[in-house]
Amino acid sequence: MLLEMKNIDKAFNGVPVLKKVQLQVEKGEVHALLGENGAGKSTLMNVLTGVYTKDGGTVEFDGKTLEHITIRGSEELGIAFVHQELNLFNDMTVWENIFLGKEIVGPLGRCNKKEMIRMAGELFSRLDVRIDPTEKVENLKTSEKQLLEISKALFFQAKLLILDEPTTALNNDEIDHLFQIIRNLKKEGTSFIFISHKMPEIFAISDRYTVFRNGEYIASGKIADITAEEVTRLMVGSTSSFRDIYEARDTGEVVLSLKNYSGPGFEDINLDVHRGQIVGLTGLQGAGSSELMQCIFGITHATGGTVTVNGEIIPYHSTHRAMRAGVAMLASNRKENSVIPDMSLLENMYLAEHTLSASKFHIHQGREKEKFEKYRQTLNIKAQDSSDSILSLSGGNQQKVFLARWLNTNADVLLLDNPTQGIDVGAKAEIYKLILQLAKEGKTILINTLEIPEIQKIADYCAVFYEGKIVKTLQHREINEQTVMLYSTNAANA
Ligand SMILES: Nc1ncnc2c1ncn2[C@@H]1O[C@H](COP(=O)(O)OP(=O)(O)OP(=O)(O)O)[C@@H](O)[C@H]1O
Ligand SMILES: [Mg+2]
Repeated sequence: MLLEMKNIDKAFNGVPVLKKVQLQVEKGEVHALLGENGAGKSTLMNVLTGVYTKDGGTVEFDGKTLEHITIRGSEELGIAFVHQELNLFNDMTVWENIFLGKEIVGPLGRCNKKEMIRMAGELFSRLDVRIDPTEKVENLKTSEKQLLEISKALFFQAKLLILDEPTTALNNDEIDHLFQIIRNLKKEGTSFIFISHKMPEIFAISDRYTVFRNGEYIASGKIADITAEEVTRLMVGSTSSFRDIYEARDTGEVVLSLKNYSGPGFEDINLDVHRGQIVGLTGLQGAGSSELMQCIFGITHATGGTVTVNGEIIPYHSTHRAMRAGVAMLASNRKENSVIPDMSLLENMYLAEHTLSASKFHIHQGREKEKFEKYRQTLNIKAQDSSDSILSLSGGNQQKVFLARWLNTNADVLLLDNPTQGIDVGAKAEIYKLILQLAKEGKTILINTLEIPEIQKIADYCAVFYEGKIVKTLQHREINEQTVMLYSTNAANA
């Protein structure tokens, strides 16, 4: 046994978050740590790596009992932690980020920059990662940043590597690549703790699992002995069947209309979306659906065609004008695009609405709190107090706050880019119900996702993208995984 954590207790401000939990990881295995949002997964990893001090329990690692764990101490023992949130310094270079605090010093006490660049390059070629060590981190794509984080952790020959939702910013090829790296290191005896909400991934890479629920240990065992449905049941605590929540609805006039719309990553898009309609967009990463949303919202610059909302043409490249026309957008990649770390939950929630109404100087805390309470209930946000820092929430609960941020703007058109990223199975179902409810109330909704079951549950129709174009629209009853894959890989035309 490489790691043995027993009876671990941890409370924040008197509220217990971990209650006598246990976790055992063997040498050379990938161990999936599973549980709903707020179950305590990240907290336990923070205890193991010295970010938080435990209130009770014992930790044994590699035959030694660890008494007072510090961040540096756990690193020295060979525990590397790739956090759920990216931890890179954007204004520094790639190699500086890797060697921060562990600089290689020459005989005269000066940093040996050349050597560090060389070693970083060697690391990347060993892992087959294509990143220039001298590049500034701010110039990297999100997926490259994620790969850099992982490479950085691998640099110091860790015995145990903790990956907390490592694939959220990676496309399928990059995920395969990461899994290949994991399999190779496993052969050398490295162990992994793998945290994810995506079942196919969990089953593809893990050997064993441990499930937590509400800060308690529930079960552990071999992945080969359990099904995805059984795991879900252990996580949620009861069987809940969320099939068939879809209901056909009457839809109204055209609210959002795209005519021959082109921009970076997509071309000649024609789409009419009616009041009360839910339209799914999908395709492989980079096929254009996410790019289209960003352009409608004014983040990137259109090159041709028009976007009309309620009969009014939105000018190019103005997020503010898009918002004023009644468009809201939940961006993908929460870590990079949504979290404002210095602000409380409440402030993170009302930000968009106040930017819009330009009333930031007259914030009625009481009224905002009431609204927050409403969202807390409907979205089941696990938080203690609305004045807490956004960073005190689990990843999935942060995502719910950002969903609330945009629901709170009363926008007519909701653009949801990968809205259930990092959200557990139970909460996903809540969010689907909410989206259907919003459509019933007359919102016009576009949802972009790579998860086909998601579209299958809620979309009235779905547009499949391939190389920047819509290659197929499928009506609700025609949507299924095979058909969507057929068009998104262009196999239908091969
Ligand atoms: N620094 C903190 N201060 C107060 N509460 C915290 C802090 N960190 C975590 N919590 C609380 O502890 C609970 C467990 O959070 P944790 O981040 O461990 O969940 P998780 O299992 O990783 O969930 P997710 O899948 O959403 O990331 C949550 O209710 C969270 O709000
Ligand atoms: Mg977490």
